[in-house]
Amino acid sequence: MKNVVPALLGATLFLGVPSAMAVDLPAPAERVVDYHKDIAPIFEERCIKCHGEKKQKSDYRLDNRDDAISSGSEGAAITPGNSAESLLVRLLLGADDNYDIMPPKGDPLTPEQIGLIRAWIDQGVVWEGSAAGTTEAMAEKNDKVAFAGLGESWFVEATAQKGPLATWQIVDEKGPEGETAIALTKPNHTDAGTYNLLWDTKTQFKNGEIAVSLKSISGEEDQGGGLIWRAKDKNNYYVARFNPLEKNLRLYQVKDGKREKLASADVERAADQWSNLVVKQQDNAVSVTLNGQTLIKADVETFTEAGGIGLWTKADAATIFTQPKVSM
Ligand code: HEC
Repeated sequence: MKNVVPALLGATLFLGVPSAMAVDLPAPAERVVDYHKDIAPIFEERCIKCHGEKKQKSDYRLDNRDDAISSGSEGAAITPGNSAESLLVRLLLGADDNYDIMPPKGDPLTPEQIGLIRAWIDQGVVWEGSAAGTTEAMAEKNDKVAFAGLGESWFVEATAQKGPLATWQIVDEKGPEGETAIALTKPNHTDAGTYNLLWDTKTQFKNGEIAVSLKSISGEEDQGGGLIWRAKDKNNYYVARFNPLEKNLRLYQVKDGKREKLASADVERAADQWSNLVVKQQDNAVSVTLNGQTLIKADVETFTEAGGIGLWTKADAATIFTQPKVSM
């Protein structure tokens, strides 16, 4: 990032004086970071002794999400979603005239570590358990979490959430045709009434086709998963899902958080193989196709407006999906 000094001032005031902001920030890591694995060890080793439970230098605490974002004398150390604007990131480079470099002693953090912290902030400051903050305590606060891995309009949410949100990640494994794959890797709860969502709030899907491949990883209460579309919010959408445990393909509507079955078809298929799910909607007519066989056709009337699309699993169902393909 280059600092552009306005020409008028640059010529007179700043000539030859390096501006504190002209520092190149290391690039954010290009993957979904995991707070527990990637971030907490850095904070614990390099920051917590001055910004933890015992000491809060500059009134700043870094051992829970709320304080990490807004404690400190500035009251705005982290701007969720924007690492380049975040004071904390600038301090790691000593790029702020008012503060010392952080940590003030020892080697500075490496560009890789700063890249991870940047990605973590850009991805919405997901805070998932730590030595100091329990997952339970964070659950209510994390009722919506940005998932920048697929684009800025993607969010992790849940319908009828009681415990923490599930963890979704872009994974190294690819889909059956080499596609980017995303998995719900950790449900973090077993609540049978919770539906885990990873959805794109921006795509306005009304009529067209959505295709995805999916494969079950695990789940005792539930397995498999599916697609949501015409989603107004986390409580209102259509969902088509394949459940290898119950051995069926189903179409539901979820309205005001309550699920209602619209159609069902029996399917015998092993959980550990990829299944291809295609939803088509034209006005009120929906069809759901699994591995090339159209098993469900129904007329639906509840959601008539265009809405978001996304991925869905129930309870503790951990599942890997390809990035959904939408044609409208
Ligand atoms: C040895 C103690 C120590 C360690 C370790 C340390 N800090 Fe600090 N931190 C301070 C002090 C002292 C200040 C006030 C500095 C100043 O005013 O120049 C400060 C200020 C800050 C602020 C400004 C808060 C505000 O709004 O007032 C942030 C953000 C911060 N530190 C983050 C970190 C991070 C992130 C780490 C680890 C990578 C870290 N610090 C490690 C002592 C420490």
